[in-house]
Amino acid sequence: MSAEIIDGKALAETIRARVADEAKKLGLKPGLAAVLVGDNPASQVYVRNKVKQTEEAGLLSFEHRLPDATPEADLLKLVEKLNADPSVHGILVQLPLPDHIDPDLVIRAIDPMKDVDGFHPLNVGRLGIGQDSLVPCTPQGCILLAKTVHTSLEGLDAVVLGRSNIVGKPVAQLLIQESATVTVAHSKTRDLDEVCARADLLVAAVGRAELVKRHWIKPGATVIDVGINRVAGSVPGKTKLVGDVAFADCSEVAGAITPVPGGVGPMTIACLLANTLKAACWAAGKPAPRF
Ligand code: GUN
Repeated sequence: MSAEIIDGKALAETIRARVADEAKKLGLKPGLAAVLVGDNPASQVYVRNKVKQTEEAGLLSFEHRLPDATPEADLLKLVEKLNADPSVHGILVQLPLPDHIDPDLVIRAIDPMKDVDGFHPLNVGRLGIGQDSLVPCTPQGCILLAKTVHTSLEGLDAVVLGRSNIVGKPVAQLLIQESATVTVAHSKTRDLDEVCARADLLVAAVGRAELVKRHWIKPGATVIDVGINRVAGSVPGKTKLVGDVAFADCSEVAGAITPVPGGVGPMTIACLLANTLKAACWAAGKPAPRF
């Protein structure tokens, strides 16, 4: 069997086009402020892409790049300023932050109504009790990708591999909301391969290159691979990106699978833009479109 390849790039493009369309109708320009502290190379690439795609969707982008030695108090002051700025509807502070800055303190300082990452404890709590909130972008992307295969996730046996605050836990909450039967597995789970092999829907988010092998996949299962791992390529000196799932092998068993790159990755920014639109709709007192 050869799995359907779930095209995250195409779905992300559709979402971005819809955000652009809805933003035009809103009567105000949704604005997203991206804050980057320091010079982490991966973070620089992420923020550059976020800014570029924000502008391409016709949204306002405010980029704040601060030096690595920025005192925590200065970053908190900037967040306060962005909270009070009516042209800024969404605020994201790129993680990780330098060691001398407490990320929890910074996240808690962001106005929950502008917290487009969905990391503020208020939004985490609202998600947990099933109330409308700003939902973390990568988890939301995983659900939208799974729904391209299954019109409903109700009653599916879902296994989430990974328990991070950014992906594993919120994916599990969203799946519960969708009435799936959810197991959260992680590095300490016994018989991890057997647990995963029970899944109709497997979401792999552990950050371990190609950990998930062919025999971990139930025949016909849907596999969403959140991993982005850089490993040595076949050409000496070259690297390549791989997911948490051994794609070539697992795609012979799965029913549908996301590739890396081109699966979950592009969905994160698309969902970030959708969250910015949602926050702008709230600010305008209008109902937010659902994605
Ligand atoms: N670093 C890695 N992923 C993310 C994300 O989704 N949001 C932010 N703010 N930082 C990150």
